[in-house]
Amino acid sequence: MLAAQAAEAIAERTGVQKHRVAVVLGSGWQEAALEIGDPATSIPMGEVPGFGSPTAQGHQGTIHSVPVNDAPVLLLMGRQHLYEGYEPAQVVHNVRTAIAAGAETVLLTNAAGGIRDGLHVGEPVLISDHINLTLRTPLVGADFVDLVDAWDPELRSLAREVDPSLSEGVYAGLTGPQYETPAEIRMLRTIGADLVGMSTVLEAIACRALGARVLGISLVTNLAAGVTGAHLSHAEVLAEGHAAAPRLGKLLRGVLERI
Ligand code: HPA
Repeated sequence: MLAAQAAEAIAERTGVQKHRVAVVLGSGWQEAALEIGDPATSIPMGEVPGFGSPTAQGHQGTIHSVPVNDAPVLLLMGRQHLYEGYEPAQVVHNVRTAIAAGAETVLLTNAAGGIRDGLHVGEPVLISDHINLTLRTPLVGADFVDLVDAWDPELRSLAREVDPSLSEGVYAGLTGPQYETPAEIRMLRTIGADLVGMSTVLEAIACRALGARVLGISLVTNLAAGVTGAHLSHAEVLAEGHAAAPRLGKLLRGVLERI
């Protein structure tokens, strides 16, 4: 299995046999990783079996092993997206590898547009549930995975111990790469979405299929299309990540210390 091969390569390069926790750092979250701890190793994703090199700007494309309270945490800086032309199996190869490398808990982070009234740019929001609008799945065959409490309630409570001001929201995952139209955002609001983005949902499904616990945190990098009439840009997404990095880093570190 490709994930097992990739996990073996990571074990060899890091000298660590088992990483019990993995973090996927998406757009806007790369700098926050620096706050987690000193990476002992840096592996270019392209050198690990099955990984492509991320093409999205703001995705570093490296894998690190970082000790947190003496326990090694696997950091995956950047991810593969459907909009880059990757198939679902390639998109979730990161989390399948992390789980093969020993991860029982996976933290998924991303940048998202805020749909719900009251969400602020620069605010991290816990993902309480998702709506998979990619119309794709990483699963093949009769793999009828239960997605009730897919976004682990205990892990969310633990994150709120670190930052009691965190709110929760439903994340709608679309393929992108174009941002949504204001009409699409009105539809998403109507069907119950609070946040919108172009990643994460397939990874969460793959994690649940393998029994790993999932915590998701979206950084609201902009208000969704039509909410204010402002135009959207990836530069804004990255700038907000930069501004929020210290807060996000402390949040991640606090969560990792408690897992
Ligand atoms: N829409 C989709 N994906 C995003 C957005 C958005 O508004 N912001 C950051 N990622």
